[in-house]
Amino acid sequence: MAPTLAVINNITNPASDFSDFVLTKGHGVKGLSETGIETLPKQYIQPLEERLCMTKIIPENAIPIIDLSDPNTTGVADTICNAAERWGFFQIVNHGVPLQVLENAKEATRRFFRLPAQEKNKYSKDNSPSNTVRYGTSFSPQAEKALEWKDYLSLFYVSDDEASALWPAACRDGLLEYMRKSEAVVKQLLKVLMEKLNVTEIDKSKEDLLMGSRRININYYPICPNPELTVGVGRHSDVSTLTILLQDDIGGLYVRDLQDNSWIHVPPVEGSIVINVGDALQIMSNGRYKSVEHRVVANRSKNRISVPIFVNPRPHDIIGPLPEVLASGEQPIYKRVLYSDYVKHFFRKSHDGKGTVDYAKI
Ligand code: OGA
Ligand code: NI
Repeated sequence: MAPTLAVINNITNPASDFSDFVLTKGHGVKGLSETGIETLPKQYIQPLEERLCMTKIIPENAIPIIDLSDPNTTGVADTICNAAERWGFFQIVNHGVPLQVLENAKEATRRFFRLPAQEKNKYSKDNSPSNTVRYGTSFSPQAEKALEWKDYLSLFYVSDDEASALWPAACRDGLLEYMRKSEAVVKQLLKVLMEKLNVTEIDKSKEDLLMGSRRININYYPICPNPELTVGVGRHSDVSTLTILLQDDIGGLYVRDLQDNSWIHVPPVEGSIVINVGDALQIMSNGRYKSVEHRVVANRSKNRISVPIFVNPRPHDIIGPLPEVLASGEQPIYKRVLYSDYVKHFFRKSHDGKGTVDYAKI
């Protein structure tokens, strides 16, 4: 049963009771939302500059939607590379991942978040049997001045056997299937993007560098009493090579338009997958492909879910501008950094827009 309002109103020490309910007991913002609260707790109130002001949104702008039904058609490769340079974001349709697989992944996500807090909390930082499986709320509650209106489960993929043993049964199969079935399109996109950088052959070591590790997250953004005062996810860019994101039909993801700094909505498109360039690819391409800032707004009337897969280098890989990119004499703008150090740097701070990539700037 959902906890009642009394649970969080009948309090002697508001700050510690809040923290106990949301963080320690694992009710998360979903639990908070389901108590029926009518005003946003102060912990979620974001500074003015972090809220999304609707006048900064240009509604007629849109990221490209690319049809991959015949990827060898002239122009498709160029469209992909241009989108990665100009927008850093695009949607793909007819991508070969069966629609039923997408539906199953979303249903797996809903099934996990429907579990009682006590069950989900078995995977929290303090309780999880493995650091490859982590249930949590907000982004990094210890580092953040204001919290984000989001709960998540984050799963670092090691092997099918490890996933069978450790991932929650409620969502394991649907998510594994989605990961497996989306691998081909990820490879196809990377091949196209690499060709434009004069990387004509992706051998095993290059493949490992580009996509040697993967993390799948499931996100839950519950109904929020004051969405205008908070964020679902604050401004950030991903630390991945590529992120492939499945969203439901609610909407709320916004991306920065590099040309005028405005924000563009990424509308839900039935059957589509959202693709974005992450920092690792921006660095490897020496800035040619753009890892663009994005954010999620909270919603007053609907719960939203999303399922990003972060396709990453391996933690022990050194990332830097690719030799093929620098072969013609282009000056590197990024240095070579250990990928796990880069990721640590990302998690040490709250979401801060494009701040992470400075870590690798020369
Ligand atoms: C992320 C992210 C967007 C979304 O998890 O990095 O940007 O729509 N998510 O949930
Ligand atoms: Ni992101």
